[in-house]
Amino acid sequence: MGEVKLFSGMKLPLEMHKVRVVQKLNLLPIEARQTAMAEAGNNTFLLKNDDVFLDMLTDSGVNAMSDQAVAAMMVADDSYAGSATYYRLEKKIGELFGTTYFLPAHQGRACESIIATAFVKPGDVVPMNFHFTTAKAHITRVGGRVEELVIDEGLNPVSDYPFKGNIDLDKLKECITRNGVEHIPYIRLEAGTNLIGGQPFSLENMTQTANLAHAYGIPIVLDASLMQDNLYFIKVRETACKDMSIREITRALCDNADIIYFSARKLGFARGGGMAMNDRAYYERMKDFIPLFEGFLTYGGMSVREMEAMTVGLEETMDETVISQGPQFIEFMVDELQKRGVPVVTPAGGLGCHINARKFLSHIDDHAYPAAALAAAVYIAGGVRGMERGTLSEQREPDGTEPIASMELLRLALPRRVFTMSQVLYAVDRISWLYENRELVGGLNFVEEPASLRFFFGRLAPIGDWQEKLVAKFRKDFGDSL
Ligand code: F0G
Repeated sequence: MGEVKLFSGMKLPLEMHKVRVVQKLNLLPIEARQTAMAEAGNNTFLLKNDDVFLDMLTDSGVNAMSDQAVAAMMVADDSYAGSATYYRLEKKIGELFGTTYFLPAHQGRACESIIATAFVKPGDVVPMNFHFTTAKAHITRVGGRVEELVIDEGLNPVSDYPFKGNIDLDKLKECITRNGVEHIPYIRLEAGTNLIGGQPFSLENMTQTANLAHAYGIPIVLDASLMQDNLYFIKVRETACKDMSIREITRALCDNADIIYFSARKLGFARGGGMAMNDRAYYERMKDFIPLFEGFLTYGGMSVREMEAMTVGLEETMDETVISQGPQFIEFMVDELQKRGVPVVTPAGGLGCHINARKFLSHIDDHAYPAAALAAAVYIAGGVRGMERGTLSEQREPDGTEPIASMELLRLALPRRVFTMSQVLYAVDRISWLYENRELVGGLNFVEEPASLRFFFGRLAPIGDWQEKLVAKFRKDFGDSL
């Protein structure tokens, strides 16, 4: 199925849906945005959403739902045990993933906690293409550590390599030999690799990884949270898969995995999560954690309404015109920013548009958090809320030193089917204005630095009066515009 081609030749991400329910937005004047940012300790996580115009913090739990998914919520079966809703969801997951067992959990990190608790012993190593914050935190919580084996190209911000989320098989072999099979409880593969810019892996790379792992008797754990984008990229970028349906690609990916877990705040357009597998022993090993920490086995801490919506959302994920919306809008935003000289991660990935803050604000030292400073500046410039994905998101070493993140990114997520093209173009406009005025932007310092999860709760202050100068320049350039 190709894209709709236009007579003018313009590349247009055309929506294959119409809007039927809307939410009013509020765009504060820039002076009020500066105050709101200061009150939030220059941390976009601490902003009040009423003060945000375009919320590009994340796509987690905020994708638009379809009429069918909302309608399904009305038929949810509220029983504590044995809910019909659970059996409908379990059946759909079995059908799409080819798995026999399903364990529900309240969201993705609960699956990560349970998998780490059940499989990882102190001193163990979990190789992976790249870490995700909560996945790594749970592995380290139980005494394990992670090794990131993404191909070198994955960390190159400017590239045209189609599968930057691929694992390097030579690095993987070396890692297994060096650590010993007995210290590797599983290999974690993250679809749509979040922290390097939503970059996919190929079906070929996953199959080779799984074959290697299985030859050593090591299971594969697939983090399918961002699988929706990865499926689309395999379909359009992997020549060998161009004639496969999304359903067939899903099945091929899942057939390589021993345990599949996902955040249904991303996969399935709802809120929740779960783990699917065929091996009864794995199921038994993790089953008891569900009623202990999540909820009874047939809801796992989720609302049954969300589970019904998820069942529909997972089926809709098999529709290429549904899952193409995110990547096509992201590509549009990346292209428009690139045209204006803004350094972005390429090729465009899933999840959102990623700005290379280290390059955008090359005059700011890594310890003054360029990506966090850019996040504060983008909010002040346009009321657009992004998420820092760089050094601020790292945890300090036990001796207090601050590791410098391999990539220093500002992520502007595009929740699926939520924003219009004019809103995207507005964000592009404000970001390119900021780029022209980038020398005005300065760094940030911690005022309150929590020992853990500092990116969620930390409070920072601007170094110097750069925010006042930025506001004054905005007024000079835009007059009384919002
Ligand atoms: N794995 C990946 C790849 C994720 O992106 C996330 C969440 C999780 C696991 C954890 O799932 O939030 O349901 O507990 N990512 C969100 C984000 C938070 O904004 O990127 P969760």
